[in-house]
Parts: sequence; structure tokens; C-alpha cells
Amino acid sequence: MQQVTHGPFDWPIADEEVRVALEEAYQDGSWGRYHGPHCEGLAEDLCERFACQKVLLCSSGTVGVELALRGFGAGPGDEVVLAGYDFPGNFRAIEAVGARPVLVDVDPATWCLDAELLESVGGEKIKAVIVSHLHGGLADMPRIMAIANQRGWSVVEDACQQPGASLGGRPVGSWGDAGVLSFGGSKLLTAGRGGAVLTSDAQVFQRMKIYADRGNQAFPLSELQAAVLRPQLKKLDLRNQVREQRVAEIRQATTELSEWLRPVVCRAATRPTYYKFAWSFVAAETRAELRDELIAQLQTAGAPLDAGFRGFARRSERRCRKHGLLAWSERLSQSTLVLHHPVLLAHKKAALQVGQVLNHMVGQLVS
Ligand SMILES: Cc1ncc(COP(=O)(O)O)c(C=O)c1O
Repeated sequence: MQQVTHGPFDWPIADEEVRVALEEAYQDGSWGRYHGPHCEGLAEDLCERFACQKVLLCSSGTVGVELALRGFGAGPGDEVVLAGYDFPGNFRAIEAVGARPVLVDVDPATWCLDAELLESVGGEKIKAVIVSHLHGGLADMPRIMAIANQRGWSVVEDACQQPGASLGGRPVGSWGDAGVLSFGGSKLLTAGRGGAVLTSDAQVFQRMKIYADRGNQAFPLSELQAAVLRPQLKKLDLRNQVREQRVAEIRQATTELSEWLRPVVCRAATRPTYYKFAWSFVAAETRAELRDELIAQLQTAGAPLDAGFRGFARRSERRCRKHGLLAWSERLSQSTLVLHHPVLLAHKKAALQVGQVLNHMVGQLVS
């Protein structure tokens, strides 16, 4: 069996500036305080980097999405549109505020909410839309925002997987009425846990703040977390450029099998980032067991690939309203392969080798 010889691919990677930030937070005592300069500084940095006026730091991306919905005033009796293939916590966030999810299919080229289908969704109760940029694909935000604005819906733009990506020259996370970032342990900007909600709407910000303030902050980001995030934010663009280059090389290495491995599409005027990079293993769109077989083989060979999300196409209609058949959400839930990002910052040879191993194994499985 062909083996990947350049792994394992650890995350987070050693970073001298993070070590210095940790030491400084120890020296100045901010590591043990409720309030200090780091959270304030991080909020300012994020406002600048993500072109927004307000930032609410919080304990995770999952909570960030829920806070954004609360900021819009979404609650019982409301509906919130969500893609049929998305992060499971986003479905739960809608339920957590007491609203009902309305599922819309994804665009198979980008793994993201299909803007054309969004146009055809009806319903007086719809209050908001959650749009996630997933697996190296970017949602069509200009069109989604135009539809939402026309209907009076508020939009949460989930940028947890793609900090630093841009669309039409504008940072991802700044298109929606609120944007959400995650600083979870596997993310491109990591503090182990944490998140942020970005907005330029003072009323949304105020509602979120009031909800999160219970005499103390109920979903806080700590000074220590903020301290380690600030140096990472400075390097984000540089690291994203390296990831982009590696992905281009891996795409190149796997073009031979394009009939079997359909990669996420990067559209004109978009610049995605890569927390995950996705392919659909086409044979598994109708035979789910093939994807699981392939992943087991890849993982045994040391290749950092995994299955995508399970999607919501099979959720009970007691819990949600389904707009149409959700055919792609269903297919992608069984055929998606995702490459984890740490390999993209490892040795150049490692990424290429993963591409070659993938090529080899898919070739064997479909021959
Ligand atoms: C698209 C998306 N949204 C939200 C989240 C949640 O982030 P967190 O782990 O910080 O709660 C994730 C985490 O993987 C994600 O992929």
C-alpha cells in the first residue's frame, strides 16, 4: 500500500510569536483577569481586518451563530433558512432560539446554499438565513444578500471555515448582517475554543450584548485566548497564500481522475481559504459505502482525509420544513471527502504526496 511519509500533520503548529504572547500574558497577569487589553485589542484588529464596525467576542462559532440569530430577534414562530448540507450546530442554533429550520439544497459546485433555489423559497414566517462558506467553496453572497434584502430577511454569514477569504474584493464575514468566526482547536485561527460575531448593525450588536450579559458575560472569550489570537491574525493572509498554492498543486495532481473526484469549484472574483478542501467521490453519490471504504484506506496510509458533514436531508419533517428534494445535500453527505488543512502548511512534498495517494487509491477502487 502506498504510504504518506511526510505526516503526521499536527495543529496548531509551533509559533514563536504565540509562545511570546503566552509568556507576556503570564508576566503581566492578564492571563488570570476578567478584563484586559487583549480582548479589546483583538476586537479592534477584527473590525479592521473584516471591515465591520462591531465585534462581539464569544466562546465558540456555534454560540456565535445563535447570538447572531438572537441579535436579529429570531424566536418562536419564526423560520430560519439553512442549507441542507451544513455544520450540525447551525441547525441546533435555530432550534435553540425556538425557530424552525427551512432547508434549501446546496449548489454541488460549491457545497454552499444554492442562491437560485433561495429565490424560490416562500413563507411569511421566514426571519433569517444562515449561509456557511464550506470546504473551500464560497456562497454567492451578492445574490443571496439581494434576495434577503428584498424580502426583509436578515443574514448570518458563517465564515468559521474561511477567515481571510474574499468575494468580489470584500472579506467573507462582512457580507451578511452578521458574520461569524470560530477560534476552535482545529481552525485556521485557533485559541482552542472561541468565536466572534462581526456586524455593522448597532441594534443587532446591542441585542446580542444584552442577551450575553447576565451580570457577567455568559459566553466569554478570555484574555489568554485573545492574546494568542492576535499574532495569528497578523499571519493569516500569508498562511492563506501558502494554503492556496498547495491546493492548486493538489488540484493539478488529481486532475487525471476528475471523472471520479469532483473538486470544489473556485468561481471568478472569489478567493477562498482552506480549512477543509472538498471533493465529491462521484461513485459514492449513489453508493455511500464506497466513500467509507476509500477513507478507511486513505487513513491507514496516513493521508489526512475524512468524511464531510452528514447533512440534514433525512431529518424528520417534524423538526424542519424542506424546500424541494434536497438531492445534492443527500448525495454530498455520502460522497464528500475533505482534506484537513494542516498538511497544506507542511512540507510542499507532503501535500503533493497526499494528492498522489488519493489518486492511486481512487484509481484502484474504480478500476
Ligand atoms: C461551518 C461551521 N460553522 C460553525 C462551526 C462551529 O465552530 P465552533 O467549533 O467554534 O463552535 C464550525 C466548526 O467546525 C463550522 O465548520
